[in-house]
Amino acid sequence: MSTKDHQDDLHEPEFDESFRQQFEELLKWRRDVRSFRSDPVDARLVEHLICLASLAPSVGHSQPWRFVIVESDKCRESVRANFEDCNREALKLYSGEKAHLYASLKLAGLRDAPVQLAVFLSEKTHHGSGLGRITMPETLEYSAVLAVHSLWLAARTHGLGLGWVSILDPVKVNRGLNVCPSWKLIAYLCIGYPKEDNSSPELLRRGWETTLPVGQVLVKR
Ligand SMILES: Cc1cc2nc3c(=O)[nH]c(=O)nc-3n(C[C@H](O)[C@H](O)[C@H](O)COP(=O)(O)O)c2cc1C
Repeated sequence: MSTKDHQDDLHEPEFDESFRQQFEELLKWRRDVRSFRSDPVDARLVEHLICLASLAPSVGHSQPWRFVIVESDKCRESVRANFEDCNREALKLYSGEKAHLYASLKLAGLRDAPVQLAVFLSEKTHHGSGLGRITMPETLEYSAVLAVHSLWLAARTHGLGLGWVSILDPVKVNRGLNVCPSWKLIAYLCIGYPKEDNSSPELLRRGWETTLPVGQVLVKR
């Protein structure tokens, strides 16, 4: 189903109180997932999720996101090796207890995720004719990130977990996946049915970081 078909199908919706409550639950139970069951994910569902992600807002309606479904063992192995190298380097930046804790964290589900999806930014796209990004070019990146978040939430509504892997050398990802060198890596995503569901972040549960109260991130002027 294309994005357009999907939009044509829709009648004007009514978001009632029960929907709002469910949406809140969705936000609270969306998790970054690194441990997946081996159950396969229907390829049509993956395509549907990509269509939904493509409904995200984008500066000037530029739709700068490009999705690459990573299937081959060769491509997946290149990403896994890339992650392992970068993760080893990242570990060196910590010492003492934090280093021990870092080393014990599972920071990617690259071995077990049945679906792997790389999201790139086409910085050279002419779509949108430059609207909005002349003054803030970075809005192109923000647009691609919004597509990732839409996909993240949509996946969760189907019981799927998504894990964002950023401990990667982006240039090597482009080379390993043989994609246009001018595309910029935004996210490498592991997708599959999670081994468990949780209402709180794994990094919080493992004692890596605390959750900031809203009062600390909100100012009024
Ligand atoms: C831009 C971005 C990059 C991330 N990269 C990684 C990563 O490389 N490895 C990892 O384990 N989690 C990664 N995460 C997931 C965060 O660690 C996670 O979102 C955070 O701990 C909060 O947990 P939650 O998503 O379950 O609420 C990333 C998240 C974002 C938004």
